[in-house]
Amino acid sequence: QRLSIITAPFSGGQSRSGVEKGPKYMLNHGLQNSLTKLGWSTVITEPLSSAILQIKKDEMDQNDRMGIVKRPNLVGKVTKLIYETVTKSLSNERFPLTLGGDHSIAMGTVSAVIDKFPDAGLLWIDAHADINTLTSTDSGNLHGCPVSFLMGLNDKKMVPESMEWIPGNLKPNKIAYIGLRDIDEGEKKILKNLGIAAFSMYHVDRLGINEVIEMAMRAIHPETNGDGPIMCSYDVDALDPLYVPATGTPVRGGLTLREGLFLVERLAETGNLVGLDIVEVNPDLASKDDHVSDTIATSCSIARCALGETLL
Ligand code: ARG
Ligand code: MN
Ligand code: MN
Ligand code: MN
Repeated sequence: QRLSIITAPFSGGQSRSGVEKGPKYMLNHGLQNSLTKLGWSTVITEPLSSAILQIKKDEMDQNDRMGIVKRPNLVGKVTKLIYETVTKSLSNERFPLTLGGDHSIAMGTVSAVIDKFPDAGLLWIDAHADINTLTSTDSGNLHGCPVSFLMGLNDKKMVPESMEWIPGNLKPNKIAYIGLRDIDEGEKKILKNLGIAAFSMYHVDRLGINEVIEMAMRAIHPETNGDGPIMCSYDVDALDPLYVPATGTPVRGGLTLREGLFLVERLAETGNLVGLDIVEVNPDLASKDDHVSDTIATSCSIARCALGETLL
C-alpha cells in the first residue's frame, strides 16, 4: 500500500494564525513512522513552499478582499496547488492523506479525489457544515465555505478568477455530514433545500455512532447499500474540545474520542476509503500546557485509525 502525506500549512481561510503549524506538529509527533509501521510505503509531499506563499500572503492581504470575504485570491491559488498535488498522488496510486491547515484546503483535496473517482461520496466530519456561499457567509472566512464551492453553489459572476478552477461538480446526494452542532441560519436553509444528508450530534446521541456511519455511507452510495469509494474530510473540531482543545472554532458537546476514532476505524474496515483530510489543528490556541499534546495525539490517532490501526 502506498501513501502520500501531503502537508497543507495554510491559514488564509480564516483569521487565527497558528493553524499552518498543524502539519509540522503532527509530523514531529512521529506520524510518518507510525504509518510506515502499519505497512504503508510513505512519501511526504509539500505543495506549499511556505516562503513563497508567505510573501504572496503579505502582498495580497491588504487588497485581497471581496466585500467581507477574506483572501479569495490567495485561497484560490493555494487550493489549486493542493489540488494538483493530490491529483499527482492519486495518479501515482498513492492514497492522499492531507494535513491542514484550515478547512478551505478541502476545495483542492476533494476536487482531486472526485476527478479520479467520479462516483466517490464525501463524508464531512465536522461541528460545522462549511457550506456558506459568498453571499451567505457572515464571517467572510472561506474555511466556512468549501462545500459551496465543491458543489458549484456560488453565482458564477461572483466567483473570483483564482477560484474558477474548482470543478464544483459534487452532487448534493454525494455528501453526508457527521458531528454537526453549529450551523448558521443560511446554511440550514441550504442543507434543507438541497436535501443533504446531515447527521448532527442529536443523531449520534439518538442512534449511536455506528448506525449513523452506516446511514451516512448508504446516503452517499444508495444503489450499493453503502459500498463505494469514500473521501473523508475530517475537521478535528468534530470531536469534543475536551480531546481537541487547540482548534480555531471549538464547539462543546462533540464526539467522544472513541466515537471519533471508531468512525475512521469503520471506514478503514470497509476498504473503501480513497482519501483523507485532517484539518483545523492549531497548536497556537492552547491555554493549558497539555492542550497541544492532547490535540496532536488525537489528530495523529485519527490518521492511524483511518489507515488501518486496530485495537486488537
Ligand atoms: N459557520 C462559521 C463560518 O462560516 C464557522 C465555520 C467554521 N469552519 C471551520 N472549518 N472550522 O464562519
Ligand atoms: Mn469545524
Ligand atoms: Mn456559528
Ligand atoms: Mn470544517
